[in-house]
Formats: sequence, structure tokens, C-alpha cells
Amino acid sequence: MVKTAVMVSGNGSNLQALIDSKAKGTLSHVELSLVVASKEDSYALTRAKENSIDAVVVSRKKYKDDVAAFERELIPYLQKYDIEMIILAGFLTVFTKDFISIYKDRIINVHPALLPSFGGRGYYGLRLHRAVLDSGVKVSGATIHYVNEDIDSGKIILQKAVDVKEGDTPETLQLRIMQQAEWILLPKAAEMVAIKILEEKNDKH
Ligand code: GRF
Repeated sequence: MVKTAVMVSGNGSNLQALIDSKAKGTLSHVELSLVVASKEDSYALTRAKENSIDAVVVSRKKYKDDVAAFERELIPYLQKYDIEMIILAGFLTVFTKDFISIYKDRIINVHPALLPSFGGRGYYGLRLHRAVLDSGVKVSGATIHYVNEDIDSGKIILQKAVDVKEGDTPETLQLRIMQQAEWILLPKAAEMVAIKILEEKNDKH
């Protein structure tokens, strides 16, 4: 199994989808080794605790604009747990190039829209879904992608379209995208990437 850290900032419903998938047996190559929360009031911490997954808080607020300092606190935890894959599941920090190069092709992110549309700085949370509604597009969805140096622009792993409906609010659209796309796609992509990591390891031996 691939030792995996799930990084979260909030509610953690995508973390829950990974936990549920694990319980169902459909995430057999992924070991949920560690949850890292960037906020101490993140409900994801409760989910980790209830499921006996180790969790730590690395406060993002403490470091203000100094992301590298945040990463310096984070890295020893990732090393301690021998983390080989990082899943950003509603994690609101953009890593430095140096950090990403350490974990090249080992970090994946869930984005609640169909990239390359509605991606980049500022496109997150309800603001993103509001922008989708304002634009008039009739489909949105979710994208699971590798994280590279540029925001929301790494190679796409999986994508699923979800209808935008008449009368949608950012909240209703957000929930439909989670239910119909994110919670299904993220465990699937995590399993795919884990298998790829294991294959690469075997090739080296
Ligand atoms: C999700 O919509 C995810 O796509 C985005 O942030 C939200 C996090 O939700 N990046 P949750 O914390 O997993 O419930």
C-alpha cells in the first residue's frame, strides 16, 4: 500500500469519501496514514479521530505569507509517516515550487469545476461556483489533477461533468458537484495513482 497523507482545511467531506471507500474495500492500494489540517477547527480532524487515523494540525495562519515556513513544519510529519502520496482534499494553500519538486507526481488535488475553465488563483469555494453560475455555462463538474508549480494546471487524472440547473445557487451547485463527481472521482483517482506509484517502485527493483 502507498502511505498517504490527506491534507484538508475544512469540513473534510472528501476525506470522508476516502474513508468510506477504504471501508468498502475499493481503496486497497492506499493507506490513509495521516491527516494534516491547516486549521485547528477543521471538522476533518473529528472524522480522522472517529476513524482512528493519525492527524496533526499545521497552522497555516501562524505563517501568514510565508508558505515555505509552513512547509518546514509540515515536512517532518510527512517524513515521520514515510508519506509517498499527498491528497489535497479541500486544502487551501498553494505550495512552493521547492515543495512540489520533492513530491513530483505524488500530489493530487480535487478541484470543483471542469479545468482548465474556472481554475487558478481565487477560484475556490463558493466564489468559484458563483463565477460558474454568472458565466451561464450549462455544465460544470470536478477535476482530479496532479499538482505542479502553477495553480490548477497539472495533468488531469479524472474528470466528470455535472449539470448546472435552472435556479441553482452556489450552494446547491457545490453540493451536487460533490455528490455526483468529487466523492466518486477522488477515491478512484487516488487508487489509480497509488497503483502507478507501486508499479514504478517495482520497476526500480
Ligand atoms: C471541495 O469542493 C473541493 O473540491 C474543494 O474544496 C471543497 C472541500 O470540501 N477543493 P470538503 O472539505 O472535502 O468537504
